[in-house]
Amino acid sequence: MTPILPGATLGVLGGGQLGRYALIAARTMGYRTAVLDPDPQAPAKAVADIRFDAEYGDESALAELAAIADVVTVEFENPPADALEFMARRTRVAPSPEAVAIAQDRIREKQFLVDSGFPVGSFAVVAGADADPPMTYPAILKTARMGYDGKGQRTVADGSGMRAAWRVMGSVPCVLEQALTLETEVSVIAARTASGDVAAFPVAENTHVDGILDLTVAPAAVTSKIADRAVGLAMAIADALDYVGVLAVEMFVVNGELLVNEIAPRPHNSGHWTLDVAQTSQFAQQVRAVCGVGLGDVTMTRPAAAMVNLLGDLWTPQTPDWRQVLELPHAALHLYGKSAPRAGRKMGHITTWAQNPGTAATLALRARASLSRA
Ligand SMILES: Nc1ncnc2c1ncn2[C@@H]1O[C@H](COP(=O)(O)OP(=O)(O)O)[C@@H](O)[C@H]1O
Ligand SMILES: [Mg+2]
Repeated sequence: MTPILPGATLGVLGGGQLGRYALIAARTMGYRTAVLDPDPQAPAKAVADIRFDAEYGDESALAELAAIADVVTVEFENPPADALEFMARRTRVAPSPEAVAIAQDRIREKQFLVDSGFPVGSFAVVAGADADPPMTYPAILKTARMGYDGKGQRTVADGSGMRAAWRVMGSVPCVLEQALTLETEVSVIAARTASGDVAAFPVAENTHVDGILDLTVAPAAVTSKIADRAVGLAMAIADALDYVGVLAVEMFVVNGELLVNEIAPRPHNSGHWTLDVAQTSQFAQQVRAVCGVGLGDVTMTRPAAAMVNLLGDLWTPQTPDWRQVLELPHAALHLYGKSAPRAGRKMGHITTWAQNPGTAATLALRARASLSRA
């Protein structure tokens, strides 16, 4: 594959914060940037050379984007598969429409993981009102498509509760997963090029609150055996998908073993610390991977990093006083340029660094707490 060099144009489908950082990284390296998102105020539009305010199904806009972009990538898992296939007939698209289609549908994702021999927790597919699959309850019912940040999920206590929840959730195809007792959750951000080179950042450890990522710490406080196995799984998944780009693999640690939770076909919130505490950020890595110009150094620049999300809730009763964080010597403030701070909406994050993961986590949590003190 011929490398796509600076001066060429990188297009991104989706204009959220992940697209924004991808385009910043691309610009830093000398690429031209284009973004397509229905929202004229989408965060990535502020840093794009070329903007399309269009729906993801708008074929004339997709054709224009494909015409100007040397390669198109994605920044969320839910672009319609048709849109990616449409573009792939006109320009290079990475990751492949097929890989995105698998990652965006929990049923296909689970099937892929099982068929490829990767470990997953016990689950069943639920597609009808009379479903009664063998399952150890409590369990979690998840819509197959369009879920994120814990949306589209319900914990259910038994079969009849599950069937009632299925109807409430719109009678759409779902997966039912046993609710596992998690020792912890980890994620691996890996990158793979078309020629099969792979690299992964150190394993991160994640804490979720109400289904939304709250705190990430790197490196994860797991044994080296588990860390190596997590990286090995992520790289093997990238190979099995013939993946090109950056992907994140979320995993559960249960009884000392790793189970794959889900795959995100893009950079990930749990990799935001790489913007400040790694030689290459996950976004620069994404640009390198999709352009086929060789992967960057994934080494951390400090012994440990932590990241806390800043959700819209923090804007009540008023916009936080950012000086509290800006004054800290070992912290970086990131705001995504979103104008409407709705509850649960990811508005920004804080990264901290320290000699060890515990201290980094404490610094990050304290920095955020200082924002909500009057
Ligand atoms: N089977 C499960 N057992 C225990 N906890 C789970 C299970 N599935 C999800 N969770 C919790 O909910 C979070 C969000 O679920 P996930 O499937 O990753 O959905 P999303 O696409 O919203 O990130 C997980 O990170 C984990 O904390
Ligand atoms: Mg998840």
